[in-house]
Amino acid sequence: MKVTMVGTGYVGLVTGTCLSSFGFEVICVDNNKAKIEGLEKGIIPIYEPGLDTLVDSNLKQGRLSFTTDLIGAVKQSEVVFLAVGTPSKQNSEEADLTFLFNAAEEVAKAINHYTVIVIKSTVPVGTCRRIKDFIKKTNPQADFDVTSNPEFLREGSAIEDFMRPDRVVVGAESERSRQVMDGLYKPLSLLETPVVFTTLETSELSKYASNAFLATKICFINQLADLSEKCGANVQHISKIMGLDHRIGKECLHVGPGYGGSCFPKDTMALSFFAKKFGTSVSIVDAVITANKDRKLQMAKKVISACGGSVKNKKIAILGVTFKPETDDIRDAPSLVIIPELQRAGASIHANDPASHEAEKVFSNVTWRPCPYEACAGADAVVIMIEWNQFRSLDFAKLKQIMKTPIMIDLKNIYSVHEVESAGFFYESIGRGKV
Ligand code: UDX
Repeated sequence: MKVTMVGTGYVGLVTGTCLSSFGFEVICVDNNKAKIEGLEKGIIPIYEPGLDTLVDSNLKQGRLSFTTDLIGAVKQSEVVFLAVGTPSKQNSEEADLTFLFNAAEEVAKAINHYTVIVIKSTVPVGTCRRIKDFIKKTNPQADFDVTSNPEFLREGSAIEDFMRPDRVVVGAESERSRQVMDGLYKPLSLLETPVVFTTLETSELSKYASNAFLATKICFINQLADLSEKCGANVQHISKIMGLDHRIGKECLHVGPGYGGSCFPKDTMALSFFAKKFGTSVSIVDAVITANKDRKLQMAKKVISACGGSVKNKKIAILGVTFKPETDDIRDAPSLVIIPELQRAGASIHANDPASHEAEKVFSNVTWRPCPYEACAGADAVVIMIEWNQFRSLDFAKLKQIMKTPIMIDLKNIYSVHEVESAGFFYESIGRGKV
């Protein structure tokens, strides 16, 4: 089966490459010529561990190719994925579907045989049906079906999440398209991966429901951390105890400065927006959005308080600025709020992040340092913002020697209170008090 993947971002490139490693012939299409030329040489435009090797091997075996020629790709494919971005609109909670409909229009004009069009992008409920009507109107002769196939890939572990998913979700309206999708995911269903077939709307909503629920878990444990600090409990133990209940599960119960990334923020807002459009509300999700926004400012205050109530004219070292480890993605990262807030309070920021190239284009007046120790040299305090492995075994004696004052604010609880305090640091962490 030949597959066209329209969009070579975090989702499209990973999905297309993984499908090609199943043996399908995959043509990845993008309108960014420079990106395509780079990909043809094996240059990967995103930071995703293992993707370079997978692209290279499938390119070499001729199963994977890259082009800007969407029409030519569609004309030779049975399946066409639309994996273009659906960001939030400027100053709005609504998802922007411009890229999606532009791609759908180009595909509609190119269809010349039965084609299954797969909406891989995260889209508000009802979009697949709108796309179907739009394609029919654009090309009344087109013989096609539209299916929904939301992704559940985490950046930094996207290949693993594709190859060993908890489930594959497919919204399909016809037996014909269902069979094509069944064939596409046969390599996974043969490994006992559940492939759940449902309606278009259910598939679309299941993606938002999953992400919003995970975001809710994160905000819940972060608020329990605040309470733990007040009442002397240990939120790490609470998280463990809760996670041992199989009905709760241990994932997304790790405290931090709030969730970021390209999905949780966008998807919670989009869900809230279209719930209201459908005349109902998801007030729980509204509360999560507010709680997460407030948390980032709250963390800046925590840093200032740990520095004696002021960071004016102080040097603050920040370790980790991306939205999570193992990615270069800075979208909606907590650092985008916390660093400017500390700068507004008079701090000068020295930062280190193992994948800071994207962040360095975004932040102003930040001094970037190649390693944690250089960032901490002469610092009045160090903030561990993101739990990169590179920060998990810092030499406290060396840090104490090179820092101006031994103050550490650990927003991801990567260390134990005892080990840091016994190294002579004033140590602030999340939800553990002095336990
Ligand atoms: C998420 C969903 O997990 C994935 O299924 C979906 O397809 C895309 O969105 P992603 O945004 O890449 O994936 O990363 P994820 O690992 O889920 O983390 C999202 C944010 O939550 C990050 O900022 C992370 O630091 C934070 N987080 C995650 C926590 O604060 N605590 C946790 O326990 C887990």
